[in-house]
Amino acid sequence: MFAVHLMAFYFSKLKEDQIKKVDRFLYHMRLSDDTLLDIMRRFRAEMEKGLAKDTNPTAAVKMLPTFVRAIPDGSENGEFLSLDLGGSKFRVLKVQVAEEGKRHVQMESQFYPTPNEIIRGNGTELFEYVADCLADFMKTKDLKHKKLPLGLTFSFPCRQTKLEEGVLLSWTKKFKARGVQDTDVVSRLTKAMRRHKDMDVDILALVNDTVGTMMTCAYDDPYCEVGVIIGTGTNACYMEDMSNIDLVEGDEGRMCINTEWGAFGDDGALEDIRTEFDRELDLGSLNPGKQMFEKMISGLYLGELVRLILLKMAKAGLLFGGEKSSALHTKGKIETRHVAAMEKYKEGLANTREILVDLGLEPSEADCIAVQHVCTIVSFRSANLCAAALAAILTRLRENKKVERLRTTVGVDGTLYKIHPQYPKRLHKVVRKLVPSCDVRFLLSESGSTKGAAMVTAVASRVQAQRKQIDKVLALFRLTREQLVDVQAKMRAELEYGLKKKSHGLATVRMLPTYVCGLPDGTEKGKFLALDLGGTNFRVLLVKIRSGRRSVRMYNKIFAIPLEIMQGTGEELFDHIVQCIADFLDYMGLKGASLPLGFTFSFPCRQMSIDKGTLIGWTKGFKATDCEGEDVVDMLREAIKRRNEFDLDIVAVVNDTVGTMMTCGYEDPNCEIGLIAGTGSNMCYMEDMRNIEMVEGDEGKMCINTEWGGFGDNGCIDDIRTRYDTEVDEGSLNPGKQRYEKMTSGMYLGEIVRQILIDLTKQGLLFRGQISERLRTRGIFETKFLSQIESDRLALLQVRTILQQLGLDSTCEDSIVVKEVCGAVSRRAAQLCGAGLAAIVEKRREDQGLEHLRITVGVDGTLYKLHPHFSRILQETVKELAPRCDVTFMLSEDGSGKGAALITAVAKRLQQAQKEN
Ligand code: BG6
Ligand code: BG6
Ligand code: GLC
Ligand code: GLC
Repeated sequence: MFAVHLMAFYFSKLKEDQIKKVDRFLYHMRLSDDTLLDIMRRFRAEMEKGLAKDTNPTAAVKMLPTFVRAIPDGSENGEFLSLDLGGSKFRVLKVQVAEEGKRHVQMESQFYPTPNEIIRGNGTELFEYVADCLADFMKTKDLKHKKLPLGLTFSFPCRQTKLEEGVLLSWTKKFKARGVQDTDVVSRLTKAMRRHKDMDVDILALVNDTVGTMMTCAYDDPYCEVGVIIGTGTNACYMEDMSNIDLVEGDEGRMCINTEWGAFGDDGALEDIRTEFDRELDLGSLNPGKQMFEKMISGLYLGELVRLILLKMAKAGLLFGGEKSSALHTKGKIETRHVAAMEKYKEGLANTREILVDLGLEPSEADCIAVQHVCTIVSFRSANLCAAALAAILTRLRENKKVERLRTTVGVDGTLYKIHPQYPKRLHKVVRKLVPSCDVRFLLSESGSTKGAAMVTAVASRVQAQRKQIDKVLALFRLTREQLVDVQAKMRAELEYGLKKKSHGLATVRMLPTYVCGLPDGTEKGKFLALDLGGTNFRVLLVKIRSGRRSVRMYNKIFAIPLEIMQGTGEELFDHIVQCIADFLDYMGLKGASLPLGFTFSFPCRQMSIDKGTLIGWTKGFKATDCEGEDVVDMLREAIKRRNEFDLDIVAVVNDTVGTMMTCGYEDPNCEIGLIAGTGSNMCYMEDMRNIEMVEGDEGKMCINTEWGGFGDNGCIDDIRTRYDTEVDEGSLNPGKQRYEKMTSGMYLGEIVRQILIDLTKQGLLFRGQISERLRTRGIFETKFLSQIESDRLALLQVRTILQQLGLDSTCEDSIVVKEVCGAVSRRAAQLCGAGLAAIVEKRREDQGLEHLRITVGVDGTLYKLHPHFSRILQETVKELAPRCDVTFMLSEDGSGKGAALITAVAKRLQQAQKEN
C-alpha cells in the first residue's frame, strides 16, 4: 500500500517536473487570455482591411467573395457530380439532392490517390488526372450517358468574379503544380475534360471547402452561417452583409466570404507570437513566407512543429538523455495523427512511448511525459489561435446583425478537429470564453463539404435553367445579317411602290410629296413664327434669319399639351394651340404683328401645296377627333379666327423630318435626308422629280416624307415581329398601324420592355415572380429611363435606384436582367432603323448611277440624342448594309422649327415673286 502511494507520489512529482520543464522551454508558445483577445482584435482589423476596396490589394487576409448568396432553403434538388480536391483526400462523388419531395441527400463516392508527382508536377497534367478520375468514376457508376452539372470543391484561395470561375491566387498546403497560379481553374478543368469525348459535364460552381462545409451543415441547421476547416490546412468562411463587400456590386442581402485566414500574419502581423520553431518550419515548407497562421494551426504542420521542438530539446539534453535518432532528424516523421494519439486520455502515454520507439529513440518515463506535454502545448496553441480568429468572426456577425446576443451555428470539418481527442472541446471552450455574447453551436460536417457544394450547384443549376429561359426571350430580338438585309430589301421595294402612281394609294410607306423643292441657299431672311407639334414637346418659336451670314436667332417656349387635349376634340386641340401662340406673342411683346408662320406638324399629311396638308391619320400619342381627312392649316386658321385676337400668315406646313433636314441643310448643303428617331420614327429625303409619279414635272427634286413608320403594316415584316410587339400594338391607340415605328421609336421601346418584363415575371424569372401595379402601368419606361438604364457608366446599384424610382422593387440580379432586356430591344430598334436608312441611301446611289455616294443625314429625336448606344448601332448598321455610301450623320441642334422657318422664308419669297409676276 505504501509502495503504491510512493509510486503515485513519485509519478506525480515526475509529471510536475516534466511539465514545468516543458512549460519553461515552450513559454513563448503558451498564449494568455489577453494575448488571445489581442489576436482577436488584430484579426478583426485584418477582415476589414480585406473587405475594403482600396486596402484589399495589400491585405494579407484576402476575404474572397464566393458568389454564394444564401444558405440552402430546402428547395434544392437534382442529381450532381462533385469533386473534392485539396484536403487530405481526393474524392469524386455523385450527389442526389431531395428525391421525391423529401429533404434528403444521397451520395456515392470514390477516393482517388493524389501522388506527389501529380500535385507538384505539371499543372495541365494535374487537371488531366482529375478529369481521368472523374471519367473513371462515371464509367464505374454508369453515368457516362448522362449530362450532369458538377460542383467543384477546390480548397485553395481563388479570386472569383462569378460562381463558375476562380483564379488561383496561390497554392497552399501540399500542392504546387506548375503553371496554375493566376489561371482560372474551372476553365483548366473544363479543357482537360474535353479530352473525354463521351463525357458531357458542365462545371457550374467552384467552392472552397469551408463554403462547402458551411452549406452542408446549413442544410440541417439553418442557423449555420460560418464554416471552419481544421484539417490539412485551416480556414473559415462566413456570411457577410453585401453592403460591406466593396469588391462586389450591390448591397442587398449577404454573400459568403472565404476569409483565407491561413494567410493571417503573412505581412508580419503575428511576428511577436511566432517562435523559432515556426520560423524553422516555414523555411522548410513548400511555400516559405506564406500561410503563417495556418502553419501554427493546421494538421499538415502540427506534427512537424512537435518534431522540431523535440529535436531542439534533445540537442539541449532535455530529452532522451541528449540522444537523437536519424528519424527525429527527418522532416515529416511526426504527423498530426501521432500528436493526436499521444494526447489520448488513457493510452496517451503508452502511445507516446510506442511512437518514440518507432522513431528509433529510447524514451524514459519522464521523456514520454515531457513529449506528451509538448504535444499538448502545440495543439492547445493551435486551438487557441483558431478560437481567437473565430471569435472575431462571430463578433463581426453579431455586430452586423445589431443584436445583443447572437445565436449561431458553426459548421466544422477537417481531420485535426475530427481525430484529435481534446481539440474540439478546447476550441469550443475558448471561443465561448472570448465571445460570451454568442450562443454558439458547433456542428461537425459528417458528410464532408461536397453535400454543401451540391447545394450550391443545385442553386446554380436552377439559375442556369432560368438564364436559358431569359436568353430564349432575348434571342427573339437578335437579328442576323440576313434578316437585316431582308428588311433593307423590303423597305427598298416599299419605297419604290409608294412612288408609283398605280400603287401609291395602297402603299404602306406612303411617300408623301412635300412641295419642298430645294435646300435653303443662304439668301433667306426675315422674322418668322414657327410651331413645332408632334414630338415630345410642343413649342412656339420666333426665328430671325439674317441673310448672307447664315445666322439665325431663335426664341422659343415649350408648352404642355395635356392628354385630354391630345385625345379630345380637334377644335379643343387647335384652340389650345392658338392659346399657346397668344401666350407666346404676349410673352415676346409681339401682339398684333402679323408674322409669316411655318407649322411643323409631325404626322402624315397629304399635301397638294406647301401650305395645305390633309391629315391622313394620327400616329403616336395623338387621337383628337374630327381631324383626320381635314386640312390642318385650315383648322389652325379657323381656330385663330375663333379667337379673333390676332392674324397670322400660315405659309408652310412641314413634317418634322423635313424641318430637320432643312435645319441641317442650312449648314451642310449635302444634307438630303432627314431622320427622326424620337417619340416616333420617320425619314424624308430629296427625290428626283422624274421618279415621283404623283406630281407633275420631271425637273429638279422634291422632298418626300416617306412616313416609313407604316412599313410592315401589310405584314411584310411579321417574320421578325415578336409576341411582345403584337402585345404593344394591340394596346396602342392605332392597332395594326405603324408597325415599323412600333419596333423602332421611343414611344414604344419602353412598352416592349415592359411587356417582356411582365412575361419574365410571370415565368418567375424576375421580381420574385410578383407583377406589381407599376409594372402593369402603360408608359412607365420613357425613352429617358431606357437611356439611363443602358448607360455604361452606371453601376448596377444606380440601375436599381432608377427601377426603384419607377416603383419597381428589384434585386441586383433583376437589375442585370432589366438592363439586358433594354439592350436587346434598343439594339434591334437601331438595327432596323439602320436597315431602313441603308435602303434609302443605296437607292439614291443607284438612281444617280454613282459608284460611291456621299450624303449627309440630318437627325433629331430623343432616342437618337439621349440613348447611349442607339446612334452608334444605327450608324454601324448603315455602314454594314450600304458599304458604298459614305453617310455623315448631323445632329440637328436647333430642332425642326428653324428648318420650318427657312422653308417658310423660301415659300414667302416664291409667293412674292409670283405676285410680282
Ligand atoms: C473533408 C471535406 O471532409 O474535409 C474537404 O470534404 C475538406 O472538402 C477536408 O477539404 C478538410 O480536412 P482535411 O483534413 O482532409 O484537410
Ligand atoms: C425635336 C424637333 O427636336 O425633335 C421636333 O424640333 C421633332 O420637330 C422632335 O418632332 C422629335 O423627337 P422627339 O423625341 O421629341 O419625338
Ligand atoms: C488552405 C487553403 C484554403 C482551405 C484550407 C482548408 O488554407 O488555402 O482555401 O480552405 O486550406 O482546406
Ligand atoms: C410619326 C409621324 C411622322 C413623324 C414621326 C416622327 O411617325 O407619323 O409624321 O415624322 O412620327 O415624329
